[in-house]
Amino acid sequence: MMPGGVSSPVRALYGAKRTPLVIKGAYRDIVEDIDDNRYIDFCASWGALVLGHSEPELMNELAEDLKRGTSYGITSHYEHKLAKKITSFMPSIEMLRFCSSGTEATMFAVRLARGYTDRDYIVKFVGNYHGGADFLLTEAGSGFATYEASSKGIPKASINYTLNLPYNDQEALEKLFSDPQYKGKIAAVIIEPIAANMGVTPAKKEFMKRLRELTKEQETLLIYDEVVTGFRVGLGGAQEYFDIEADLTCLGKVVGGGFPVAAYGGKKEIMQRLSPLGDVYQGGTLSGNPLALAAGYYVMKKIEHPDFYSKLRAKTQNFLKPIKEAISQKENFSACIQDVGSMFTLFFGQDRVENMKESNLSNKEMFWSFFNFLFDRGIYWPPSPHETAFMMCSHSQDHLQKAQDAILEFIEMQ
Ligand SMILES: Cc1ncc(COP(=O)(O)O)c(C=O)c1O
Repeated sequence: MMPGGVSSPVRALYGAKRTPLVIKGAYRDIVEDIDDNRYIDFCASWGALVLGHSEPELMNELAEDLKRGTSYGITSHYEHKLAKKITSFMPSIEMLRFCSSGTEATMFAVRLARGYTDRDYIVKFVGNYHGGADFLLTEAGSGFATYEASSKGIPKASINYTLNLPYNDQEALEKLFSDPQYKGKIAAVIIEPIAANMGVTPAKKEFMKRLRELTKEQETLLIYDEVVTGFRVGLGGAQEYFDIEADLTCLGKVVGGGFPVAAYGGKKEIMQRLSPLGDVYQGGTLSGNPLALAAGYYVMKKIEHPDFYSKLRAKTQNFLKPIKEAISQKENFSACIQDVGSMFTLFFGQDRVENMKESNLSNKEMFWSFFNFLFDRGIYWPPSPHETAFMMCSHSQDHLQKAQDAILEFIEMQ
């Protein structure tokens, strides 16, 4: 009844030559399938879960919220509460709007940027993935890179104004911004400042600095797609990590505590162009859903604890350290781990990855044997060589040890 047996392609496990997992429940760091197999989960709902599955306190709070209804279609008190948290954690966001998926957030942010600047061109980077909007689904990473080189069904006209640049390539950036065909005509540059969708690949600081300068000079809006990095790499996201602010920021995943919540926001002057204040239209039936925002608000209360990110980072480092050592000590073996905060990717066959071209050069065959090796031992790794694994607070030391041992065993066997 369902293409590939899934609601999103990468879950089909085609690359691993398996049938899709069908999950009946998830608890702390475990997902359990309908045949009662249990897996230690490093996919964490593609990074949406930072605390863990079925966090007991959150479940109790939501049970209370559920008694007050599931959708109002009218502003709920949680919108105000969550907006207050987000704007205090990310100072570049003075005003925001909630929506229901990362795809919506990036699509609407680009529309707003185009409306605000009265320009059409947008720039994105090869291997960055910004969801499913036609004009952003060109040379994208993530599942798009796992299974397809391109998608049918996207009219040429919808991508006429989308310009793709190689990630981390300052020369290409300078060249585009000085090209008379585009100079002063670009509405926005959208970027994953720490790319998650070609495997963890941080932008270089110099590159980000220059990107900010060029966009300022030409009054082009800089949009950070922080759907993955927002509230994942730190309270202030990638913009805090680089200490470089965006004009607009897209959020998703962690901000919804495992529910379909996303948001986009930025400078008041820009956001006030949204209807009903302004002339850029965007709306949504379930936008600001009370139950979903309650979950997001609960997560925000947890992550603002002063030790939250340092603890999660330390836990990730402890897990990765012996694996990094094993990689560096093994002769005639090339691999690397790239990580920021609690995000990490193990690339086989590459010593470092700075862009999609290098991510594509990684040894995919070895990745799939790695995936299957872990899977057979009850460990669920994100099923793509271009994806990111995530640490959750709920990962237990026992389970981390088990996963670490399995990964070390796999490396040893090569
Ligand atoms: C960086 C980034 N932006 C946008 C999206 C799209 O979000 P969603 O899948 O919620 O539509 C994703 C999804 O993985 C993402 O990783």
